[in-house]
Amino acid sequence: VCIIDQRFLPHEFVVERMTSVEEVCRAISEMRVRGAGLIGAAAGYGIYLATRNAHPHRIKEDLEKAAQQLISTRPTARNLAWAVERQLDELSSCETLDECQSRSLATARCIADEDASFCQRIGEHGKKIIEEIAAKKSGKPVNILTHCNAGWLAFVDYGSATAPIYAAHAAGIPVHVWVDETRPWLQGARLTAWELSQQGVPCTLISDNTGGHLMQHGMVDLVLVGTDRTTRRGDVANKIGTYLKALAAFDNHIPFYVALPSSTFDWSITDGLHSIPIEQRGADEVLYVAGKTDRGEMERVLIAQEGTPCANYGFDVTPARLISGLITERGITPAREADILSLYPEFA
Ligand code: MRU
Repeated sequence: VCIIDQRFLPHEFVVERMTSVEEVCRAISEMRVRGAGLIGAAAGYGIYLATRNAHPHRIKEDLEKAAQQLISTRPTARNLAWAVERQLDELSSCETLDECQSRSLATARCIADEDASFCQRIGEHGKKIIEEIAAKKSGKPVNILTHCNAGWLAFVDYGSATAPIYAAHAAGIPVHVWVDETRPWLQGARLTAWELSQQGVPCTLISDNTGGHLMQHGMVDLVLVGTDRTTRRGDVANKIGTYLKALAAFDNHIPFYVALPSSTFDWSITDGLHSIPIEQRGADEVLYVAGKTDRGEMERVLIAQEGTPCANYGFDVTPARLISGLITERGITPAREADILSLYPEFA
């Protein structure tokens, strides 16, 4: 199982091979692989690797341990636990280790392929929103603001929030993306800006504080973000800072859409603010910035006084009332429980 180690992008393209569930856990917790859909897909393959290393007389115990290890790596993203639970469910009727190995490999592949096809459909549905805005702009580009990285690096092949942008771009609709740098880990600066430029999509990198100003001056037509966990009434946990963009969009009457495959819904909870666990990460991510020096070397520099106390909340929750709609693989729905459940009646 190979991953792109995202810590080195955009400066270096490093591929790492993993042969055990412990390596997968480390890759997820150190954010070598990151992004809601991708950590789900990686966890699926993590369980497959656990079956390869399981003891034939302790299959159930070994797999349960692997499942716990994987789930505890990152608490906020629903896709991770969803993929692990799906694997355990599939494997519960297996009688031999051989059977477990082949079924878990097939399930891991299925999780990854499904992610790609769901995100492709999200792209088609979301494209219509961009098309409608473009129709009123007499050929001028649709300006879309995005936060963090919800692109093909964060999923399999398409991405959630970027899928409609790619679909619109491919259809010849002029688009331009404002990319929030996304402190502290800089997913926007390091990943989204690079990803969009690989696709030939015009984009401009902005510091995280810029979005509100752009919105006040009519320079943003649409905000499009992903999510790590969405409740049954449509509250959305996404990368820290998303809530502030939603507030600014609401104040400026700018549509704010969230794109997600159904694997991101947590059907067991309603109130996101009080029920979604928010990951807190180490101070070093706030205290240091990594990048490439003029000499072409990757280096990490300290940007505050050593030992400065830091808080590093990974996510915040945007309440459903600030969201114009959710773009899913089944279509676009208002962020309201009854509407969401009419798209997903099996969870009613
Ligand atoms: O901490 P990360 O980089 O794994 O963050 C998760 C995300 O990718 C974002 O919050 C994203 O906008 C959600 S959709 C992948």
